[in-house]
Amino acid sequence: MLATLLLLSLSLPTLWTQILISCAYKSLCQQALLSGNDVVLQCDHPKALWYYSSILEEEPLLVSSMPNIKKLPGGSLQLTNPQPSQTGLYHCQDNDSALVVDYELDFQDVTTLHITHKDLGQKPLQNETLKLGTSVLIFTQWEPWQDCNHCGKPGERKRLGYCYIEEPPEKPMPCWLYLRVEKVQYSRMRPEMQVEACLVPCDHLKEINQPYFIFDIYQLGKLTNIWLTCPLASIYRPTIWEANNTPLTWQGQLSGQDVSTILDPANGGRRLQVFQPAIYKCFVHQELVARFNPMTKLDILESLRRDEDGQQQETGEAQKGKANSVLKGLKLMLLVGTILGLLGMLLKLFRPSQSKRSKHVLLVK
Ligand SMILES: *[C@@H]1O[C@H](CO)[C@@H](O)[C@H](O)[C@H]1NC(C)=O
Ligand SMILES: *[C@@H]1O[C@H](CO)[C@@H](O)[C@H](O)[C@H]1NC(C)=O
Repeated sequence: MLATLLLLSLSLPTLWTQILISCAYKSLCQQALLSGNDVVLQCDHPKALWYYSSILEEEPLLVSSMPNIKKLPGGSLQLTNPQPSQTGLYHCQDNDSALVVDYELDFQDVTTLHITHKDLGQKPLQNETLKLGTSVLIFTQWEPWQDCNHCGKPGERKRLGYCYIEEPPEKPMPCWLYLRVEKVQYSRMRPEMQVEACLVPCDHLKEINQPYFIFDIYQLGKLTNIWLTCPLASIYRPTIWEANNTPLTWQGQLSGQDVSTILDPANGGRRLQVFQPAIYKCFVHQELVARFNPMTKLDILESLRRDEDGQQQETGEAQKGKANSVLKGLKLMLLVGTILGLLGMLLKLFRPSQSKRSKHVLLVK
């Protein structure tokens, strides 16, 4: 029952949640990413053909044969829930078989993500040397810190770090691109996420009332095992949840203080598991993106009864047809779904990312 109500909410936002990976024309870009988090590889050629060769050096495959990979109309490639096994070379060529762009990607296993919080005194992984014929250095290559996820009140920011191996004098390489066919199991070889508290003022120019999604979710019986998914959020973007206006922080979760909700580390808190009715809000790039109101059958009957009591007092007569009211309780509202509003939000999200050196830019189709 929950599933059907969520259908609408799931189909729309996923369009906008990907991170665009780009690389200069006719170049090869080598990059580490996290598995389980959608990305789009840019290739601006409408007749683009994409080939994939795994690190096991098999023959290149036309990617249309891979179920979680889709070519977008402009030529770019969308990878949904990429797996560590999809590490390898993604080659985009035009209809004359000329190279447009090559991506050598290491999808590091997000299920092994090592999470530390500076304000809890937790330390990231240390550099280590490993004997692989020669001795090599394993270390974490950190991305820049993401923006603070809240403004005007205490928030948190995170940065992602990828496993790299350095064999001087060569340039360091993402671990699994370096290792290729070699099967090495080594506990230091993990991606990392580091979090710290932050407090930044709000940029008042940005404070226009943004449109946002509203989801009223209805579940029979108790609220158990409900996962809320924040549209537009990603492990690659600053995201925060609030429950009844109280921020849900990584600090609270990692220290064991917050037990009433669970942020899913595998997607940087894009998904939140809740167990109690409350108003849950999520913010991406400091802006309200969605409000969720999970309710049980009992909560709804209660709120309907309150509505009806109100009406009875007003009109002085009992309301008979209840069918409408039940429908009202089941409503799943996707308010403010206007394309213009969404575009406005997307453009706003798009602009700050452009100004940064980071390769993670929002896809605007
Ligand atoms: C490739 O496409 C371009 C325009 O899209 C066209 O001019 C060219 O003839 C095509 N080449 C081949 C080999 O089909
Ligand atoms: C770990 O190794 C990297 C790469 O050589 C280096 O940049 C970094 O400073 C080292 N960190 C420590 C704590 O030694």
